[in-house]
Amino acid sequence: MEIISALNWRYAVREFSEQTIESATIDKLAEATRLSASSYGLQPYRLIILRDTATRQQLLQHAYGQTKVRDSSHLFILAIQTQINEAFIDNHFNMVENQRGLQAGALAGFSNHVKEAMLPMSQLELSQWAENQAHIALGNLLTVAAIEQVDACPMAGFNKAGFDHVLGLKHKGLSSSVICALGVRSSSDASAKYVKTRVPQNQFCIRL
Ligand SMILES: Cc1cc2nc3c(=O)[nH]c(=O)nc-3n(C[C@H](O)[C@H](O)[C@H](O)COP(=O)(O)O)c2cc1C
Repeated sequence: MEIISALNWRYAVREFSEQTIESATIDKLAEATRLSASSYGLQPYRLIILRDTATRQQLLQHAYGQTKVRDSSHLFILAIQTQINEAFIDNHFNMVENQRGLQAGALAGFSNHVKEAMLPMSQLELSQWAENQAHIALGNLLTVAAIEQVDACPMAGFNKAGFDHVLGLKHKGLSSSVICALGVRSSSDASAKYVKTRVPQNQFCIRL
């Protein structure tokens, strides 16, 4: 589907059908999420892919009754890293050096620059920075889902502490940031009837 048509086709689905998305398509969406750009390439988030209904039933009590958390085909959870420190930055640059076939320490100059920029930040600033990066990945996911004709509903309306507890994220050094239900829209989804509303292009785009 042509990209603008795909973006007009998509909407935030509130009621999903019982249809399941094929695992190859889910893998493609996960790959699109992984390939997102991030500040310094640090990818301070991980993607949790949840299919299990029992776990999703437990999450429901932390999702303000948003049943799509349980009833969609899959639930994607973008979770930010909670330990953004020197070791985290070192691990990242070790990975880059390995993947590019560089000698250990070849990127020390850039790594030090990143440390100087990041490490003075407060925990709050670091988590906000990480949240921003996770939301870029969410944008990639939504766009590629639309191209693949997979329905989605991004959600920030959930209790992060509750999700972290149910999913055992704290022990993994993660904290839930934003979630996305994926599946096939129900024919009775009331949101499907809503006209898509956006700020008109001539007000949205400021050409200087
Ligand atoms: C970060 C983010 C969080 C959102 N949280 C929720 C949510 O918790 N529940 C929900 O039903 N929709 C949620 N939405 C969907 C928006 O309400 C929806 O995208 C917006 O109204 C525009 O409508 P459209 O996506 O259908 O075109 C969220 C969207 C984004 C991007």
